[in-house]
Amino acid sequence: MRVIAFHNLKGGVGKTAAAVNTAYLASQAGISTLLWDLDPQGAASWLLSDDEEPDARKLGQLVKGKSPIGSFIRSTPFPKLDLIPAHHSFRNIDIKLDDADNDRMLKQWLKPLSEETSLVVLDCPPSLSRLAEQILRTADGIFVPLIPTWLSLNSWEQLTAFAKDRKIKTNRLHPFFSMVDRRKALHRDLVANKDLHLPEGMHTTIPNASAIERMGEERLPVEQVSRRSAAAGAYRDLWSEIQGMIWR
Ligand SMILES: Nc1ncnc2c1ncn2[C@@H]1O[C@H](COP(=O)(O)OP(=O)(O)OP(=O)(O)O)[C@@H](O)[C@H]1O
Ligand SMILES: [Mg+2]
Repeated sequence: MRVIAFHNLKGGVGKTAAAVNTAYLASQAGISTLLWDLDPQGAASWLLSDDEEPDARKLGQLVKGKSPIGSFIRSTPFPKLDLIPAHHSFRNIDIKLDDADNDRMLKQWLKPLSEETSLVVLDCPPSLSRLAEQILRTADGIFVPLIPTWLSLNSWEQLTAFAKDRKIKTNRLHPFFSMVDRRKALHRDLVANKDLHLPEGMHTTIPNASAIERMGEERLPVEQVSRRSAAAGAYRDLWSEIQGMIWR
């Protein structure tokens, strides 16, 4: 089982879009995939599930080891793609992780999944928290969408500094340009000069595209919204680049 995460301390950069599209492409390739929506805003859950039922089970039981992770799993309309939906109690996850004072808790929660799941995709909330620290320790690859602006490059520096400060190796952190708007000179310049400004950056860039916005209207992965769009092609490229990195 491999674990990948889409993370950035900045909000609204395309983490959820990348998590949903990547998880969908993996499942379509026949890989048993579980998307865990760790963000209490629940955007990924909303995109992939009609299940409006409130989940009575509480995170507290998971933390105490009284509720197995499997009991949180829901199916989606897509074969081979399951979901752990966001839960309001996840708002308090950092307090719980602090109380438990266990650096490896996320890793322990994920362990029992390995029998039935080949890939776990974590959709992370925008923060540098205790949870973020555990994600950086646990995932085989942490993929970081960055809008091509100076401020975003600065947030990438902050993320790597956060990791180094906690003695986490940064070689599993992979940034990529997201929401690239070719009409903007700065976007064009930063992408064209990626080797200078973001030498660790991935090859794939995700364009700013209306097809991705439509995912919210249609509650579907972009592959189903508009398979022939450049945006859908970009996520296929991203998924293929990710595969090469995590199954080396
Ligand atoms: N490449 C793109 N082109 C156009 N719109 C996009 C693109 N990627 C994401 N969006 C839109 O931008 C908004 C934010 O995207 P998304 O939810 O994926 O970001 P996020 O980083 O997960 O945000 P948050 O930090 O709030 O969880 C959404 O409305 C989404 O539809
Ligand atoms: Mg999100």
